[in-house]
Amino acid sequence: MGTSREINPENPETLDLLLSRRSVKAGRMEMPGPGGSALEKILRAGLRVPDHGKMGPWEFIVVEGDARQKLGAEIARCYREETDKPSESVARKLADFPAQAPLLVVVASCLRDAKPIPEWEQVLSAGAACQNMLVAAHALGFVGQWLTGWAAYSPGVRGVLGLGAKDRVAGFLFMGSHEGAPSERHRAEYADVVRHWAEVLQVTDS
Ligand SMILES: Cc1cc2nc3c(=O)[nH]c(=O)nc-3n(C[C@H](O)[C@H](O)[C@H](O)COP(=O)(O)O)c2cc1C
Repeated sequence: MGTSREINPENPETLDLLLSRRSVKAGRMEMPGPGGSALEKILRAGLRVPDHGKMGPWEFIVVEGDARQKLGAEIARCYREETDKPSESVARKLADFPAQAPLLVVVASCLRDAKPIPEWEQVLSAGAACQNMLVAAHALGFVGQWLTGWAAYSPGVRGVLGLGAKDRVAGFLFMGSHEGAPSERHRAEYADVVRHWAEVLQVTDS
């Protein structure tokens, strides 16, 4: 046992990371990507997310090395098969999609029905897994980006990844290294997003 401060000692570095994290475009990532124990830590961080009912409603599929090109070829094949008038340039881009960065982790949202936990909550848990892994990658000195795109919604790609008909790709998480600080992007304004309920009541009352 212990107090929360003993269990979670203050860690300003973690907060700095959360307040400064930003993506680097997958195509701009360089070698190396996380591997070995670093990759395992990232995947374990993905397991450590809020999960109503202990359902484990996610799967993490690691795509590294040559497997990235092989997956790319499969994605391009699915695109040609599933599209009425496939464009060769799109097919080529899709073929290059998985290998654009050193490492790809596909996070799938896999709905479980052992307990009556709403689907929405299970899907949210998969999103939390994506974010935990991105943050863990950053904490280990790597960069990351969460992408979806055509391949995330293709039934054929779902099959190629070994997912079931009800499973969905929550994200393609790309990870790698990067020299220099990534450029910042516009962020939502605190005052536009944060509401205190008492203020809401005042507005309603007036
Ligand atoms: C579910 C989800 C899917 C996304 N898919 C794409 C995508 O396909 N292409 C893209 O450019 N950004 C996509 N993004 C946005 C990037 O992950 C990221 O937010 C963006 O590159 C800006 O970086 P930031 O993490 O610093 O905000 C997606 C984000 C989420 C949450």
